[in-house]
Amino acid sequence: MSRKVLVAYASKMGSTAEIAAAIGAELRAAGHDVTVRDAAEIRSITSYDAVVLGSAIYARRWRPDAVRFLRRHVEELRERHVWLFHSGPVGPDKDEAQTMPPKVARLAEKIGTSPATTFAGRLEPATAKGWLARRLARGDMAADSRDWDKIAAWADEIAIAMSATEIADQHPDDEEAY
Ligand SMILES: Cc1cc2nc3c(=O)[nH]c(=O)nc-3n(C[C@H](O)[C@H](O)[C@H](O)COP(=O)(O)O)c2cc1C
Repeated sequence: MSRKVLVAYASKMGSTAEIAAAIGAELRAAGHDVTVRDAAEIRSITSYDAVVLGSAIYARRWRPDAVRFLRRHVEELRERHVWLFHSGPVGPDKDEAQTMPPKVARLAEKIGTSPATTFAGRLEPATAKGWLARRLARGDMAADSRDWDKIAAWADEIAIAMSATEIADQHPDDEEAY
């Protein structure tokens, strides 16, 4: 069964938006009805069965639009399948899993979802926005470290998890039957 899935993102320099688009494409290829949209533009999530939310990380924090999204929709998110990711580390630190900022961790716990998966990010002169980003993008850290295979594999796991819950939803009495 096709599920209605929202892939929402909060991105400053565009790379997290592109990760969200890749996740959306993978879920679409698995047969789901997917909307990929900036978290700041979402007014309601009631029409979605599942939500994927991703934020870029700056100074160990999530983008304000992603945190606002979690806060605003916390009650509806508790009733849906939710997956979180964040994107940040580049260059030599690209494989370092990042911890969620405390207030995001508290919201994730309230929603009952797993901690965010970390994807490596991008910091390059051509896309850097702001004085500090442009400066850092000229240094050792500068790279597009995004791992598209890892991103696609994670989206595939979500598709598999959604099929598993679909079977459970269709046969809710199976556990009692045995
Ligand atoms: C000023 C600045 C601070 C950053 N702070 C972090 C950080 O704390 N942790 C991290 O993993 N990445 C950090 N990054 C890297 C960004 O998260 C990375 O470039 C990311 O891919 C940007 O996503 P976006 O293009 O969607 O905005 C920082 C980048 C800049 C420019």
